[in-house]
Amino acid sequence: MSATAHKTAPLPDDIRAMKGHTPIVSLTAYTTPMAQMMDAECDFVLVGDSVGMVLHGLPSTLGVTMDMMVMHGRAVARGLKSAMMVVDMPFGSYEESPQQAFRNAARIMAETGAGAVKLEGGQHMAETIAFLVARGIPVMAHVGLTPQSINTIGGYKVQGRGDAAAALMADARAVSEAGAFAVVLEKVPADLADQITADLPIPTIGIGAGAGCDGQILVVDDMLGLFTAFKPKFVKRYAALGADGTAAIADYAAEVRARTFPAPEHTFSAEAPAKGTGK
Ligand code: KIV
Repeated sequence: MSATAHKTAPLPDDIRAMKGHTPIVSLTAYTTPMAQMMDAECDFVLVGDSVGMVLHGLPSTLGVTMDMMVMHGRAVARGLKSAMMVVDMPFGSYEESPQQAFRNAARIMAETGAGAVKLEGGQHMAETIAFLVARGIPVMAHVGLTPQSINTIGGYKVQGRGDAAAALMADARAVSEAGAFAVVLEKVPADLADQITADLPIPTIGIGAGAGCDGQILVVDDMLGLFTAFKPKFVKRYAALGADGTAAIADYAAEVRARTFPAPEHTFSAEAPAKGTGK
């Protein structure tokens, strides 16, 4: 199955069923127009808490709030017809207890129309994932580099190298056994990601985890060249919209200063327009 094959948005079970045969395509989105651009190509769209860094200029994802996720979730939902929407649970909204996680996940589902929520963490989040799934909330898990924990994992480092591989495998197994329908593997050595992908019954969605995962996700502003503050090695830029935009704004400014914009075709005359021209 691909996004173009299904007329209505897939359910988490449809995404799970793609494991092992059909690559799962995903990007992040935060606004209606961006969601519209990717709807036909993506199987699911993630309203990631990366929104804090790429749209709001925050230094990390830690300052992202429930209200921000709900607002961006609602905006993205308006732009989607055929892709499923997953919304990230922000830092501080789920770690305290399964009950806290349920309250906030239920709010996200009810107020945005998301098909699922995503939360970060492995073995220590398994109880919470099981609690949410048992109460009707599909969960996408996220292990490896978990950006909400940069202060305890020591920055944006590759996770699971050497002796740390066993713990990462255990994290992936724990979230799968807890009932997650898919798991994001972020910044994980490709051979370990391959082993996890072979081991788990649920799809792995890689970001910096090699080509062997069941699917891939990128932050849309990274791959379009809109966010240029830094570029992780795993990002491929498919466009340079940031540079194009900067050049376009410079052209506009020069034309305003030279009084060559607006030109006659952008200008209204005193006479009423000819019927049917709409001018
Ligand atoms: O917030 C985000 O954009 C994410 C992706 C990097 C998977 O969690």
